[in-house]
Formats: sequence, C-alpha cells, structure tokens
Amino acid sequence: MKKIIITGGTGRFGQTLKKYKSKYKLFFPSKKQLNILKFKSSLYYLKNIKPNYLVHLAGLSRPMNIHNKEIEKSIDLNIIGTSNITKLCSRFKIKLIYFSTNYVYPGVKGNYSEKDALLPVNNYAWSKLGGESAVHLYKNSLILRVSMTEKPFVHKRAFVNVKSNFLYHEDVIPILFKLLDKRGIINIGGPTQSIFHFAKKENKQVKKAYLKKNQNIGMPYNSSMSLKKLKIILKKKD
Ligand SMILES: NC(=O)c1ccc[n+]([C@@H]2O[C@H](COP(=O)([O-])OP(=O)(O)OC[C@H]3O[C@@H](n4cnc5c(N)ncnc54)[C@H](OP(=O)(O)O)[C@@H]3O)[C@@H](O)[C@H]2O)c1
Repeated sequence: MKKIIITGGTGRFGQTLKKYKSKYKLFFPSKKQLNILKFKSSLYYLKNIKPNYLVHLAGLSRPMNIHNKEIEKSIDLNIIGTSNITKLCSRFKIKLIYFSTNYVYPGVKGNYSEKDALLPVNNYAWSKLGGESAVHLYKNSLILRVSMTEKPFVHKRAFVNVKSNFLYHEDVIPILFKLLDKRGIINIGGPTQSIFHFAKKENKQVKKAYLKKNQNIGMPYNSSMSLKKLKIILKKKD
C-alpha cells in the first residue's frame, strides 16, 4: 500500500482528510513528530516512514491579518517551513503536493489560468507564493492553487459582490487523490459565483454583505480561477 504523509494534519482541512477512506496508508504526524521548522527531526520522521507522497498542509493560514502583524511567523512557517519540506522531499525523492491558494492571482478580472501573471492580494498570499517558489524548484512536485472553505460556512454574512470558486473541504479531497501523480500547477475550485450565493446553498440563514472599496481587508473582488486544466485531467482519469 502506498504511503502518504500529511503535514498539518491537525488543521481544518487535515481533520476532514482524516475521516476520508482511501486506498493509501495515511500518516498524520503531530507537530512533535514532524515540525516543519526542525529540519533534522522532520528528516528522521521521513526516513523512518519512507512515504511515496507528502501532502504539505502545515503552515500559517488564518486569521488573514496575522500575516501583517507577525511577519516573522508568516515567513518562518509558510516560506522557510515549506522550503525545508521541499528540500527533504527532494533528498528522499518523495512526491510533494503543496496546498497554495487562488489569492496568488491579482483578484481583479477573475477566471485566472495557471499560466496567468501573479500578483498576490495580501501578505498571506505572498507567503504562500514564497512557498510555491521553493516547491517549484523541485520538479517531482505539484502545486495546487485551491479555493476552499469549511462546511458549514463559518460566517453569518457573505459578500454578494465578491466572486470566488469556493469548494467545501470535503469536496476537494476526492480531487486531491485523483491528482497525486500529476506535476506542475493545477487550480482547484468549484463554479464561479458570489460568496453569498455559494454560502446560501448550504445555509439559508446567511445574510448579505457588501465589500466596500475602502474596507481594506485584503479580500479581492474576483479571485475566481479557470478550471479548464483540472476538468481535462479529471475527464481523462474517469
Ligand atoms: N481556506 C482554506 O481552507 C484554504 C484555501 C486555500 C489553501 N489553503 C491552504 O491549505 C492548507 C491547510 O489549510 P487549513 O485551513 O487546514 O490550515 P490550518 O487549519 O491553519 O492548519 C495548519 C496546520 O499546520 C500545523 N502547523 C503549524 N506550525 C507547524 C509546524 N511548525 N510544524 C508542523 N505543523 C505545523 C498546525 O498545527 P497546530 O494546530 O498544532 O499548530 C495545523 O495542523 C494551508 O497550507 C493553507 O494555506 C487553505
């Protein structure tokens, strides 16, 4: 049975992944067993397990403004931590799958393809792009630019005038397993729609909100991605 190590398995997405049944043997090391900032201890863990794949989720994500307030933490976890993981995967020839974000695109016109120019929308996205830069050096890797969120939708209000292509965590998981052997960069998301429209389908109580120009919360108006590449790959496999 092929082995997959998941870093950041205690996080939001990792917890959902833990419940999923697959044909792989999944390992969810604790931060004590695999700390992405401790190169040697991570090395021993990987050497011991000898995985075929490593899905790299660990890092600093929310709240988004922590990346403005604590840039050292953001740089350490998302850039240096990801660089450490990339070096180790390269050393042991482990296939690396890195979870990046749609926020690396400029977030203005939407429908961004994997080949479009990047302009991260906030510090979080810059830190994730920093991680991408390391991963990109190692060719046996896959960068997933994902637009996802947890179910149920966490907020009481959702933006009517902000477009994205959110998928719920649980809907990303089967896609992830289908892409394990791909390389390069792939966008993952659902249909392009307003966040309100997305949230309303699962939660009838959600109220409308409007993002104002001067709100300055690092949220782009249209961070939707083209899913053309993903759809072609998924069609081929099925
Ligand atoms: N909205 C989204 O959900 C979304 C969208 C696109 C991409 N992503 C990316 O997907 C990944 C997973 O997201 P998430 O929401 O599940 O993240 P999360 O809930 O913030 O989880 C982060 C994980 O990283 C672990 N971690 C922190 N420092 C570590 C260290 N030094 N060594 C090892 N592990 C460490 C945390 O463990 P502790 O709890 O023990 O600190 C936690 O398990 C992230 O890389 C995120 O950037 C998320």
